[in-house]
Amino acid sequence: MASSKSKGRVSLDERFYLSADDFFPANAGLGLTYDDVSLATRYSEVLPRMTRLDSSLSDSLALSLPIVSSDMDTVTEHRMAIAMALNGGLGLLHYNMTEVDQLAEVRRVKNHIHGMIGDPAVVSADDTIAQVLARIERDGLAFSTFPVTSSDGTLLGLLPGSTVKERHGQRKVVAVMIPRDKVFTVAEKDLGKDPIATADRKFSEHVGQNKLLVVDAKNKLRGLFTLSDIERISEESRAHVRPTRDADFRLRVGVAISVPRTADGEIDRARLLAHVSALVDEGADALAISTAHGHTKGVGDALRLLRKAHKNITLIAGNVTSGEGVEFLAAAGADTVKIGQGPGSICTTRIVAGVGIPQLTALYVASRAAAKKGVRILADGGITKSGDIVKALTLADAVILGGLLAGSREAPGKLMEINGKTYKEYRGMGSHEAMRKGSAARYGHSASGKFSKVAAEGIEALKEVSGTVDQVLGTLAGGVQSGLGYLGAANLAEHRKRARYIRVTPAGQREAAPHDVIEIKAGS
Ligand code: XMP
Repeated sequence: MASSKSKGRVSLDERFYLSADDFFPANAGLGLTYDDVSLATRYSEVLPRMTRLDSSLSDSLALSLPIVSSDMDTVTEHRMAIAMALNGGLGLLHYNMTEVDQLAEVRRVKNHIHGMIGDPAVVSADDTIAQVLARIERDGLAFSTFPVTSSDGTLLGLLPGSTVKERHGQRKVVAVMIPRDKVFTVAEKDLGKDPIATADRKFSEHVGQNKLLVVDAKNKLRGLFTLSDIERISEESRAHVRPTRDADFRLRVGVAISVPRTADGEIDRARLLAHVSALVDEGADALAISTAHGHTKGVGDALRLLRKAHKNITLIAGNVTSGEGVEFLAAAGADTVKIGQGPGSICTTRIVAGVGIPQLTALYVASRAAAKKGVRILADGGITKSGDIVKALTLADAVILGGLLAGSREAPGKLMEINGKTYKEYRGMGSHEAMRKGSAARYGHSASGKFSKVAAEGIEALKEVSGTVDQVLGTLAGGVQSGLGYLGAANLAEHRKRARYIRVTPAGQREAAPHDVIEIKAGS
């Protein structure tokens, strides 16, 4: 297409809707964030469902969904990390826990087999049916078929639900169970690279079976598939969702690490390196040094230490909002730099400390510094809707979400009911409560300090429960794909090239949201 520019004239569109390199320098000195800007639509031959959202955090860590869950103690533990990786994104496990617990969290993600119940409820051969019935009642179990195991986990048989009846109350499990040689099983080593497909095939081959038990080489029970779970997962599996897996087909996971200090304030190198080596041995795929201020000697020193010890691991570091900060962390060994100081929904850094740059301006500056150094950037914080992600991805390689995921079923924390609505806790890692649990170092305070004297940089809040991560990410990914369709971009590289920006006035912002109607059903 011969542009009018090449003929020496600038088109009407080019005068009003500016590329990033024209728009942001023209607004130098002004801090712009997502709602301050809108993107111009472009000629398109791309349908949203045809778009691809592939991105990467390093040369060795590809994502098919450019979304990362935040390393916060009310957002990412193993259940969130598993759900994120299954959807093509990545979870960053938080560090407000002991080193031993963090290793166990990594192990849970790396050992996860989708669809397999890894820790099924079992009964012992000596139990009576009456005892089994009492347990079902006590634990509120919705099923009555149980594997029968000995105390060391050896599989002895299967107790079918049809025998778990009051009339058989006095009988022992051993008298009514299906014996081991007749139980429908699969060896763990035969599950292959796609355990769901293996289980699906086995259920098809064995009409009438609805529980498939997994055993190891020593006949120890390792897990259980149910026909109904496999059917649901097979139906739900959408062709465009490609889980984030390593070369051994295990789900990938990132881990935030806190940098331990000795009594005299120096980095405790031995402890840091020992923990990181253990994480790498467990299969951690990325390590993140997350602090409120990443352009500091301490973060640079820790990064250099980790890069020297682990040449190939993906290193994420932050947070910064300046070009110099990006270059500093890149030079210290980061593959990906987190951008965001104070934009988060629970953050008060800007109020408390008076610092921070609105997200889009920060992302533009960071993206140009990152391109010079050959590193990636993550847009961290302040994202409240899919349109914000569309805008962020014109400059960043992926986004980090806290608040948008904190209400999902897989986020840690208990549900609480208030006036008939269900909520989950969501708190800043710089809130007093979170710092007490371990994140004080992230905000430059001593972990043993007196928090009542320290200014919190985050609040404690509630999020309304928002369904499963699959549902939340499905809606967000759909919105992002629509955005790419409007720009005529088939993938994120084209999206970055085709983005044209315009500033929006307060009246324009009001126009962008539902207005002058009485809303009876909220859009997603
Ligand atoms: P959203 O907007 O997704 O933001 O809820 C999540 C991001 O906020 C950062 N974070 C904090 N920032 N004080 C801050 O200034 C805090 O207490 C705090 N806790 C989390 C973090 O970057 C996260 O990913």
